[in-house]
Amino acid sequence: MDSGATSANPFFHPTILIYEGGAAPRPLVEFSMSDIEQTYTGPERVFSGVQPSGNLTLGNYLGAIKRFVEMQDRHDCIYCVVDMHAITVWQEPEDLRRATREVAAAYMAAGVDPKRSILFNQSKVLAHAELAWIFNCVARMGWMERMTQFKEKSGKHKERASLGLFAYPALMAADILAYKATHVPVGEDQKQHVELSRDIAQKFNNDYNCPGFFPLPEPVIQGVATRVMSLRDGSKKMSKSDPSDLSRINLTDDHDTIANKFRKAKTDPHPLPGHVDELKDRPEARNLLGIYAAFADEELISVMDKFAGAQFSQLKNELTELTIAKLSPITDEVTRLMADPGEIDKVLEDGATRAREIADPIMTEVRRIVGFV
Ligand code: AMP
Ligand code: TRP
Repeated sequence: MDSGATSANPFFHPTILIYEGGAAPRPLVEFSMSDIEQTYTGPERVFSGVQPSGNLTLGNYLGAIKRFVEMQDRHDCIYCVVDMHAITVWQEPEDLRRATREVAAAYMAAGVDPKRSILFNQSKVLAHAELAWIFNCVARMGWMERMTQFKEKSGKHKERASLGLFAYPALMAADILAYKATHVPVGEDQKQHVELSRDIAQKFNNDYNCPGFFPLPEPVIQGVATRVMSLRDGSKKMSKSDPSDLSRINLTDDHDTIANKFRKAKTDPHPLPGHVDELKDRPEARNLLGIYAAFADEELISVMDKFAGAQFSQLKNELTELTIAKLSPITDEVTRLMADPGEIDKVLEDGATRAREIADPIMTEVRRIVGFV
């Protein structure tokens, strides 16, 4: 974070980027400090979400959930299982129910504390749907058409994509702004959506002449694993929806599967480099070293020092060991929690009650501002 950007934005509080223990995460992406004036004076609040669609991956864990856990110490955090986002593409109802509980269990197993933070699923709090509708009327078609995720997910047949998939970023803005959240930890792929939330907040504040009513939320995209890449192709994001299971590590993979996937991971023929500059054209090396650094809570440079000149096989062996050591307690805990879905449901119900307490007065104001009687 450069200090120029910090001072240009009076709202930005640098404390959010400082973590104790491990190495200080280094920003890979500059925050977009647009010339928009931030006049919001309310409290800081963190909001983020993960979709219950398919298996959680190492990308979700390192790029998002691990970061959520770290932020709890210093911030009021709201973490959501975004089931309404998931149905923008078809979900079998029984699978959706299971995946919703599984994502909630993964949050908890990874260290999200449902007492300190608020943990709930989106569909339980109606403010999300209501505010999303209002934002559908604030956002412009042209803004939505620029969203790269929509272009990717809708593929060649845009006319067959659901209307919900197109409007998805307005729902995401509603998730964040129903709580007037100011900071949004996400992986790099979600940066564009958080920026759109800023645009929606700004346009609402302008159109309804209520400056500073909504904050302009900041994406928090930091650390070495903001974009974990596919194990089969270092130029593609690791994703739940990749047809090849070998491309990703799932949070539910057993030890042998993890070892096998790293063994088969794509590499290049050269020994590992010692300088960050040398990673430029070596995306597979960059990815595996980055995953190691993220798990070890080390800087990429120090991991590179450790493996400089070594063969990929040595990195893969050590990465397998480290991944299993870090993930297996989480996987075991998810299994334990999933044995008692009633307990998970209680946590989600309690979280939803606390979430409504924050969103309800904000929605009362929104209705008044918009002119609803
Ligand atoms: P999703 O699975 O799309 O709901 O993503 C949930 C969170 O995980 C978002 O913050 C994403 O940006 C993050 N995420 C997903 N895939 C990756 C990846 N390959 N690398 C880093 N972060 C990711
Ligand atoms: N769109 C995000 C994703 O696919 C998930 C999400 C929904 C989210 N609402 C959010 C993330 C609000 C941050 C804040 O990963």
